[in-house]
Amino acid sequence: MYISIKLFALILISFFNSCIYCLPILNETSSTPLLLLISFDGFRWDYPDLYKLPNFNSLIQRGVRVKYIKNNFATVTFPLHYTIVTGLYEETHGIVANTIYDPKLNATATLDTMNDTKWWSQNSYSQPIWVSNQLANDSKQRRSGVIAWPGCDTPINGHLPYKYQLFNLNRKFDSILKQIFDWFHEPIETRINFGVIYYPEPDITGHHYGPISNEMNETLKECDNYIGQLLKMIDNDEYLKTNLNIIITSDHGMEVIKKNHTIILEDYIDISLCSVYGSRAFVNIFVHSESNIDRIYANLSTIPNYEVYKKSQIPEEYHYKSNIRIGDILFVGKAGYEIIAPGDNSSTELLGDHGYNNVESMYPIFYGFGPVFRQNMQADPFHTVDIYSLMSYILKLEKRITNGSLDNVKHILQDHLREKFFNEINLFVVNTAVNITHWGFITVGSVILVILIGIIYIIVAFRHSRKLIYVESQNVPVRYRLLSTSEGSKNNLFADESDNEEIQ
Ligand SMILES: *[C@@H]1O[C@H](CO)[C@@H](O)[C@H](O)[C@H]1NC(C)=O
Ligand SMILES: *[C@@H]1O[C@H](CO)[C@@H](O)[C@H](O)[C@H]1NC(C)=O
Ligand SMILES: *[C@@H]1O[C@H](CO)[C@@H](O)[C@H](O)[C@H]1NC(C)=O
Ligand SMILES: *[C@@H]1O[C@H](CO)[C@@H](O)[C@H](O)[C@H]1NC(C)=O
Ligand SMILES: *[C@@H]1O[C@H](CO)[C@@H](O)[C@H](O)[C@H]1NC(C)=O
Ligand SMILES: *[C@@H]1O[C@H](CO)[C@@H](O)[C@H](O)[C@H]1NC(C)=O
Ligand SMILES: *[C@@H]1O[C@H](CO)[C@@H](O)[C@H](O)[C@H]1NC(C)=O
Ligand SMILES: *[C@@H]1O[C@H](CO)[C@@H](O)[C@H](O)[C@H]1NC(C)=O
Ligand SMILES: [Zn+2]
Repeated sequence: MYISIKLFALILISFFNSCIYCLPILNETSSTPLLLLISFDGFRWDYPDLYKLPNFNSLIQRGVRVKYIKNNFATVTFPLHYTIVTGLYEETHGIVANTIYDPKLNATATLDTMNDTKWWSQNSYSQPIWVSNQLANDSKQRRSGVIAWPGCDTPINGHLPYKYQLFNLNRKFDSILKQIFDWFHEPIETRINFGVIYYPEPDITGHHYGPISNEMNETLKECDNYIGQLLKMIDNDEYLKTNLNIIITSDHGMEVIKKNHTIILEDYIDISLCSVYGSRAFVNIFVHSESNIDRIYANLSTIPNYEVYKKSQIPEEYHYKSNIRIGDILFVGKAGYEIIAPGDNSSTELLGDHGYNNVESMYPIFYGFGPVFRQNMQADPFHTVDIYSLMSYILKLEKRITNGSLDNVKHILQDHLREKFFNEINLFVVNTAVNITHWGFITVGSVILVILIGIIYIIVAFRHSRKLIYVESQNVPVRYRLLSTSEGSKNNLFADESDNEEIQ
């Protein structure tokens, strides 16, 4: 009796579990997974609450809001955007600042000259996810379309995105959105399954006016309206509504800079002994002669509100050490304290800045919604390096070894909830069968029947309904470039000559 009930229970369990794959399917489903990744530069994690942004706040009902993302040092734009799409710390992917010196190449890059593969391909495992997507073994159905994301116009270890457009400071979000939607809707032979958008606000406003300002209120209202537009476009689009997963995140937050919280580096060290690269929040100092490292270090260590590390002493939590592009000395302001390095003669006075080590004001937003995500969920933080693993899971890519982990993000996934649920049911049914054999077959039968009905109800609720369409497997290897770079990337990146900080 006991054995046969247990057997019966097990048969039922396997029936339930296979049932999840055999329900009737109705709506159009893409055979390759669809994902749209959007980054609003410098969107601090607490803006949606501070400024009461209705469309951002409505995203929780559709999906998941992660409280914030813990970013890795250095909290600046190019390095962190490369971390988002590679899952690697900056010391590993090699974009360690917005201004880089590489002693091996004996070359320097600024934002205007970083569009050379040598900066992005420092090692063979730096692979942006737009490349991973295109190299997947069903690659004929996969194409990536990237707009303005740092590195997207540079072949990285030999690969460019299928479609890409250069950064253009004057381009508004609605125009970018329209382009991305068009790419998702191209004929099956050319349509993208992965879209990537970089947008330079609210970072620019944050630098000029500070994170807490009327101007920020206005800029965020604009960003919020764009989200409203995005939601409307999705809701009117059966294909994307059913299939598209969306991640909205950012690279870093923004800290208030007070007027007298700035030092001029030349006032403290003999700058003829070294070269200095970085931003205003931190600098990498390459000392020409090793014998001067201690002396420069000694001078810098007397300055209050700044941290100074010899390369070997940089704290592990920075994950910012093992790369030749990191200087002999790392000099970092405490949040809100700025460094004017030699050559930084732009008169721009910043009211907001970023680049500091892990403080809350540096953390950005994260939202996810679409078929893979749970709904109505406020989730605990994870790290910038984990976002690659999440996207890789959504895009059904082969696992790559990165510095992040899917384990850190799976609590926000629908599949995980389902898996947990079935494990619990399995456990419950088996336990019930073991514990109540003396109740007799009818009692057990009715318990199982009730569970069966419950499970089928939940499966139906989970599954909505889906229909497979078949995507032709024809790859058209056309590279696509709309904006020309004829005037130099400087003009593409910056509105005017001196405001390099705008995008840092
Ligand atoms: C399925 O398609 C119908 C008709 O196009 C639509 O009304 C319904 O909302 C769709 N269901 C889902 C889950 O998308
Ligand atoms: C933002 O502006 C609106 C008016 O447009 C105002 O009601 C609101 O209080 C402002 N929010 C903040 C945080 O300043
Ligand atoms: C900066 O200025 C504020 C007031 O303007 C003052 O309270 C503070 O002590 C000053 N700090 C420094 C380091 O000078
Ligand atoms: C350290 O500071 C002193 C006093 O300002 C200066 O004379 C000296 O050149 C500095 N040393 C170095 C190595 O920068
Ligand atoms: C700023 O410094 C650079 C060299 O670092 C120099 O080429 C440029 O002319 C300077 N600009 C101004 C406005 O002084
Ligand atoms: C690659 O394709 C094969 C055959 O379709 C499949 O079995 C395998 O799981 C795929 N590998 C990955 C990583 O998707
Ligand atoms: C990050 O990942 C790279 C590549 O797998 C690895 O070499 C490196 O050791 C990792 N860094 C840390 C801190 O684990
Ligand atoms: C980098 O940008 C500059 C200016 O836009 C352009 O002239 C150059 O060809 C680009 N380099 C590469 C490798 O794309
Ligand atoms: Zn940024």
